[in-house]
Amino acid sequence: MSDASTAGSPPVSSAARKLPPGPKGHWFWGSLQERRRDPLTLFTRGMRDYGDVVHYRMLIREIYLVSDPEGVKHVLVEQAARYAKAKPMRKLGALLLGDGLLTAEGDFWKRQRRLAQPAFHRERLARLCGLMADATREMLDRWERRRQQGEPFDCAADFMALTLSIVSRALFSMDVSADAAAVARAMVVALEETNRRILSFFPLPLWMPMARNREYVEAVRVLDEVVFKVIDARRKGRSEGADLLAMLMEARDEETGATMTDRQLRDEVMTLFLAGHETTANALAWTAWLVAQHPEVEAKLRSELGQVLGGRPPEAQDIQKLRYTSQVLDESMRLYPPAWITAREAQEDDHLLGFHVPKGTIVAVSPYVMHRNPRYWPDPDRFDPDRFAPDRAQERPRHAYFPFGAGQRMCIGNNFALMEGVLILAMLYQRFTVKVVEGHPVVPLPRVTLRPQHGIRIQLA
Ligand code: HEM
Repeated sequence: MSDASTAGSPPVSSAARKLPPGPKGHWFWGSLQERRRDPLTLFTRGMRDYGDVVHYRMLIREIYLVSDPEGVKHVLVEQAARYAKAKPMRKLGALLLGDGLLTAEGDFWKRQRRLAQPAFHRERLARLCGLMADATREMLDRWERRRQQGEPFDCAADFMALTLSIVSRALFSMDVSADAAAVARAMVVALEETNRRILSFFPLPLWMPMARNREYVEAVRVLDEVVFKVIDARRKGRSEGADLLAMLMEARDEETGATMTDRQLRDEVMTLFLAGHETTANALAWTAWLVAQHPEVEAKLRSELGQVLGGRPPEAQDIQKLRYTSQVLDESMRLYPPAWITAREAQEDDHLLGFHVPKGTIVAVSPYVMHRNPRYWPDPDRFDPDRFAPDRAQERPRHAYFPFGAGQRMCIGNNFALMEGVLILAMLYQRFTVKVVEGHPVVPLPRVTLRPQHGIRIQLA
């Protein structure tokens, strides 16, 4: 294990200018081509071959991958002020997210986070349980018809539509129902282009008259129109809601008493739209796939559902009691963490786990890689929800598992996502047995989130 005592120590001078080991890569590209071709292999192999801190060069960029819990704590928690969000995140922000929580920095981010936080308290979230259950029931009723017809289908696409519907209802109540199809279409285009822009080394400027640019700009325009329409209606008192938007509109800065402007509201809403659905959808798709291959897990899941719910629909107060269902979701996010990597840029020289971190270095931490570190996860590729049994979870260092990040920038929607995920899984396995279609390739595709590249084709029994 790396020497934990060095984490958190102040920058040191020449004596400790040691750089971490890592692959040399191509003389010009460094490891950039592999990063683009197969980053999951590049980074997991890096941890295996070089250890807990690996140095990569990608063209002119110096990148460290940190796979030690103390290192994660150092970068995301204890020394977070020294590490700003890395550039790809800010690129992502440019048109779609503006200065929303995911992309903002500094004092502005701090203020926005303080304003938004109360909307995500557990008691507030409990009120959203009913709308989550309604949306899930609507999807499962459609699945019932599919079951009767014996028709195979891609559950990943259905989970994406479901979580988008849930986050829109949670944000706006039913305000966008009339625009739901247009919003969903625009969101798909915006998400695809955002993915492409993040991965591209030289994203095309938006003013260039390419079809892709035009589609992206149009998608953002559609989303803007819907969001501003809803905000305007609320401001003029034409509609009300006890939803997240209402809470964001009411939120007042404790010090100044100021509320958010329309532009700030728009940026936060767009951020929650985006951050709040694809991640959860992927977690559900991976879970369905993993459970389908482990009948013993499915049996245990069903037994818990029988004991806790006895056939009735789950409610907010049941979520805590569905322990094993939560463990299944936790273990699925261990193997396939939807936010599989995040990166920071060192704002000043630093010293991390015995290595020198020059200013400007990108420091990446990857739940995907850490969650497969055999030191904390024996037999790491095995799907075993019992790893998350309360007594066993205590045996591990806290930051050996971080699907929602850590520290001040930790996911604000983690309780939302866990409640939603457990609720959907409970309702799903109360009604159906999921079988995966044999021979259909299931391949993780690491974009902004970790998706199943060809979807997950299932049949219901
Ligand atoms: C399984 C589902 C989810 C996963 C795995 C996930 C993961 C993450 C991670 C890892 C971060 C931190 C990124 C970083 O440090 O660079 C994050 C941030 C964030 N997430 Fe989530 N998320 C999920 C669901 C949600 C939901 C449902 C919402 C909203 C309804 C949401 C809203 C946000 C926001 C606004 C941030 C930025 C917070 C800040 O910087 O202050 N997420 N998420």
